[in-house]
Amino acid sequence: LRTPLAAIKTQAQALRRRLAGDAATRDSLANLLASIDRAGQLVDKLLAFSRMQKGRRETASIDLSVMLSDVVSGLAADAVARDQELSLDAAPGVLVRGDRDALEILVRNLVENAIRYTERSGAVTVSAHETDAGAEIVVEDTGPGIPDAEKERVLRRFYRLGNNGEIGSGLGLAIVKWVADRHGATLSLADVQPRGLRCTVAFPPRPAD
Ligand SMILES: Nc1ncnc2c1ncn2[C@@H]1O[C@H](COP(=O)(O)OP(=O)(O)OP(=O)(O)O)[C@@H](O)[C@H]1O
Ligand SMILES: [Mg+2]
Repeated sequence: LRTPLAAIKTQAQALRRRLAGDAATRDSLANLLASIDRAGQLVDKLLAFSRMQKGRRETASIDLSVMLSDVVSGLAADAVARDQELSLDAAPGVLVRGDRDALEILVRNLVENAIRYTERSGAVTVSAHETDAGAEIVVEDTGPGIPDAEKERVLRRFYRLGNNGEIGSGLGLAIVKWVADRHGATLSLADVQPRGLRCTVAFPPRPAD
């Protein structure tokens, strides 16, 4: 899946270099290249998802503060580019048992969404804490939120809202839901006052080691 896309991209780039072209031609080529990148992102997401779904995966004891901090550092540049404040609030030692790669993908999808759908100069807060019921991951933003009538539907594969021009494939939250289910965790989306979305992944209590 990746190889033919890479070949198409190389050809399109070669074409762009060779064509002096008018402004309209350059625009179309830029659009073409952007579409190729989008197709590439979709393929990467689908491949990661299908890898995750294969067979039994190893579970490990995971310190959420370390995992969240890795994901947040990886996405910090995206937040800076949008002039957003991205903050992390996770004390060390909040542990869950699970599939490290899958949980990292879960967190990354939630934080990517929060950054992508929150306007410039907004804020995104990522946190982990222990509750009476078990550990929780919370990703909160100051964006437009999701209307109650859509909160179930956005968890479906390929389902997207209007999004004023933000691109995506509609797979992220379906993956988040799938990974949460696999860990016996619940995913809930809630409004934040005065504005924003809070996504909570609540894990069951850890079995004693
Ligand atoms: N933090 C958020 N604030 C507002 N809307 C959101 C937020 N997260 C998700 N959404 C809405 O839910 C839809 C589905 O999200 P999902 O992550 O599944 O797909 P996507 O972001 O469109 O694409 P992908 O994650 O596959 O790149 C989004 O298109 C967007 O409309
Ligand atoms: Mg997404």
